Amino acid sequence: MSDKIAYARHGDIAVLTVKNPPVNALSQAVRQGLWDGMNKAEADTGVRAVLIVGEGRAFFAGADIKEFGKPPLDPHLPDLIRRIEASPLIVVASMHGVSLGGGLEVALGCHYRIAVPSARVGLPEVHLGLIPGAGGTQRLPRLTGVDAALDVMTTGRPIGAAQAHDLGIIDVIKDGDPAENGLAYAQELLDAGAIRRAVSELPLPAAIDWDATFDATLARSKGQISPAWCVRAIEAAYAGDFEAGMKAERQIFFDLMQTDQRKGMIHAFFSERAVGNLPELKGVAPREVSRIGVIGGGTMGAGIATAALLAGLRVHLLEMSPEAGEVARGRIESNLSGALRRGKISADQHAAILGDALQVVTDYDALAEADLVIEAVFEDMAVKKVVFAELDRVCKPGAVLASNTSYLDINEIAATTSRPGDVLGLHFFSPAHVMKLLEVVVADATAPDVAATGFALGKALGKTSVRAGVCDGFIGNRILSTYRTCADHMILDGASPYQIDAALEAFGFAMGPFAVADLAGLDIGWAVRKRKRTEGLDPRARDAAYADKLCEDGHFGQKTGKGYYDYAAGPKARVPNPDVMPLIEAERAAQGITPRDFDDEEIVRRYMASMVNEAAKVVGEGIARRPLDVDMTLLFGYGFPRYRGGPLKWADIVGLESLLSDIKGYAEADPYFWAPAPLLEKLVAEGRTFDDLNKEG
Ligand code: CAA
Repeated sequence: MSDKIAYARHGDIAVLTVKNPPVNALSQAVRQGLWDGMNKAEADTGVRAVLIVGEGRAFFAGADIKEFGKPPLDPHLPDLIRRIEASPLIVVASMHGVSLGGGLEVALGCHYRIAVPSARVGLPEVHLGLIPGAGGTQRLPRLTGVDAALDVMTTGRPIGAAQAHDLGIIDVIKDGDPAENGLAYAQELLDAGAIRRAVSELPLPAAIDWDATFDATLARSKGQISPAWCVRAIEAAYAGDFEAGMKAERQIFFDLMQTDQRKGMIHAFFSERAVGNLPELKGVAPREVSRIGVIGGGTMGAGIATAALLAGLRVHLLEMSPEAGEVARGRIESNLSGALRRGKISADQHAAILGDALQVVTDYDALAEADLVIEAVFEDMAVKKVVFAELDRVCKPGAVLASNTSYLDINEIAATTSRPGDVLGLHFFSPAHVMKLLEVVVADATAPDVAATGFALGKALGKTSVRAGVCDGFIGNRILSTYRTCADHMILDGASPYQIDAALEAFGFAMGPFAVADLAGLDIGWAVRKRKRTEGLDPRARDAAYADKLCEDGHFGQKTGKGYYDYAAGPKARVPNPDVMPLIEAERAAQGITPRDFDDEEIVRRYMASMVNEAAKVVGEGIARRPLDVDMTLLFGYGFPRYRGGPLKWADIVGLESLLSDIKGYAEADPYFWAPAPLLEKLVAEGRTFDDLNKEG
């Protein structure tokens, strides 16, 4: 028998203990071990029941995702589950930790289920671009009814033991050791003369309106197809029987396995975990951080302070005056009330945070004991230098000094202090207590344990942290600046902001670039444009100034009620601002451009080509370590559709050769903007992909 399953006999009960750390994924060896274990139990004279229990953190985290995309190996999970369910012995699952995907499906194939109160169960396959593929779509509805089963499957959200018990998924909840609980429960069942109970033999619950539910699910999933296919898989049993349902489920599962969405989502799953895994941080202990200082209580500073408070850190927030301090406190209190309303913190935690975890101060000396200070003041190098001089003066030795700048040179900031090794960039995204991305900007002199502290803080705050090198805009904003410029060029040439937003939202972006600009505040882009013009634009660069005129008139987007869109009826009911197109038309006329038509496909191709080209430069220059670092930056900070994996995964799927050929074609009209990235040319010449670079580490 495989060493992944231990077989033991306790009286009339055979115990199959799964040992596949860290999370008992159902790899081939585990499946084979369970199969052999069932054979052994059935052949073991006197055994009347089998207990399946996981060792370590979980019952089962599901199918082994590393096997996806490879030829399936015997025994297949649906066959194993069928074999378990068909056993004449009573089979009991004792669940703890997570039982996800194939893990819950194994439990549903058992005849009885017991769980500890902290257990969580779910069918998260939609997050991998799949549907449950081992009977989940057939067995779960028979226990819970169709609506509840669809909720579990289409959201992919795990549910707690209590809810699972209410839904009939778990028979008994009991605190204690899962193996001991399971043995006691199996013995009770034997003593009570309990009979074998197969979920697949339960009658089908009431049918629903399948077509309407399919359409509604598809519409809700923003371009992702797998949730809607859960509906079709369940429906199949109603036209035939359990076997027909299983067959349909398998077919849909295999069809989805071949899709680009599955590839994109599995890339996202592994990249999300690999992103903080950097050779330079191996074995480097982060510095201790329990007290942090935040300089500046604007939207960003207040958001950072909120994130830190929610993570249980003590925060000293520094503002220029008591009045500004009160405004900042108000912002934080409002953020915290939101967290309380959404159930992210309890009323007691809320009170404790406001009690003394947050101190609003006006004197730098109050930061003397801070372990880490994040500056979130106005985006101006001279202002930042003054702040860092003060921090250098008051902060204790070993304190980490961080700037939240989105564009400015961290090397230059670090050089103004006597301790450049302690300085790094921690670039949060607004609202900082909500957005998942943190760019950890490692400057030339940043000490390894300071970089490690940045990652540790990110983890404590629940962020996905990406390592970035120093350049104008780091990873995310540098790429944003390029694809946004591409959008502006298309506008000058004939597209409208609204057509561009609609085309990109149809591609899967949470918001198009102009709606994003309105949300972030048009003054931010305006300040960057002014700075770049002051520094001197390359004479070959095409400039677009129409948006400056909006800003000059005081229209900064959502916060002033008007930008590219008019928000008089609220952010969700935005309509195009009628002042915008005349500004664009005037600029086209001034530049002597005759506008032409763009179709949505061309908009997406150009926009994505500019994004991939800049991303390839960012990787080629070492600003991002690996292509996956860019992918995660765009996914977690810029609303890139997860089911496409990230821009460089998307590029691999589309094909690098055709992308490079597009770029070279566009470069004929504008060789400056469309200069191909050397890394992209190299990969095409060598017939390799971005993912090949990810694998090199
Ligand atoms: N297969 C292979 N590896 C897995 C895995 C799986 N199902 N689940 C987790 N892992 C790996 C992770 O990649 C990670 O590996 P590294 O340490 O090498 O990075 C390790 O296990 C630990 O995972 P996390 O860092 O995510 O640990 P966590 O405690 O934060 O979360 C978890 C644990 C909740 C199980 C989370 O990993 C998770 O959600 N896993 C995926 C669960 C899932 O999607 N299951 C469905 C699989 S599809 C399926 O089952 C299809 C079917 O119907 C047949």
